[in-house]
Amino acid sequence: MEFDKNTKKDISKNIFIRLVQRTDLRRIYEIEIESFKTPYSFFTLQTLFWFNKEYFYVAEIDGKIVGYIIGDVRNNRGHVVSIAVDSQYRGKGVGKCLMEVLIKKFKETNIKTIRLEVAVSNLIAQTFYKKMGFRAIGQIKNYYRNGEDAFLMEKRL
Ligand SMILES: CC(C)(COP(=O)(O)OP(=O)(O)OC[C@H]1O[C@@H](n2cnc3c(N)ncnc32)[C@H](O)[C@@H]1OP(=O)(O)O)[C@@H](O)C(=O)NCCC(=O)NCCS
Repeated sequence: MEFDKNTKKDISKNIFIRLVQRTDLRRIYEIEIESFKTPYSFFTLQTLFWFNKEYFYVAEIDGKIVGYIIGDVRNNRGHVVSIAVDSQYRGKGVGKCLMEVLIKKFKETNIKTIRLEVAVSNLIAQTFYKKMGFRAIGQIKNYYRNGEDAFLMEKRL
């Protein structure tokens, strides 16, 4: 995909990242459904909202939610549970802004390592994570419900 650098620059100025609210979940679910082959259910998103509120952010452009990121802390390690951007708004820096805010939050919590899983077929997300400083440290067999493997990726803060 080619990026229009000027468009990205203009839109970047309007990206607003904030913590999630319960009323955002319907819109987040829409983005979830269009973004993943095996999306989280609405119930799972509600559960993540209740248990991970402090690490759950949305991105807005002109008041519209265009993406989200969900983090978690497990055994003193940061974890990226999920990230997705509305397909109409990809390639404009929204994912990068979301990840930067979550990384900042992890740093404030004195987290030293962040991990995530990404489908072996999801080359765009792998490129994105590498750009954000993650590197693959292993492969997990049958990680997804559809039987696909995941790469385990890690970033040191
Ligand atoms: C992965 C995803 C969140 C990236 O969000 P985004 O807002 O499009 O990404 P950004 O515009 O912030 O891009 C940041 C960097 O990622 C890389 N990148 C993003 N999209 C890319 C693409 N289509 N092709 C190649 N590199 C890409 C680039 O290196 C880019 O940096 P650059 O703009 O300086 O070149 C988005 O593609 C998405 O929602 N995908 C579907 C859901 C998904 O797969 N989530 C990850 C599950 S593990």
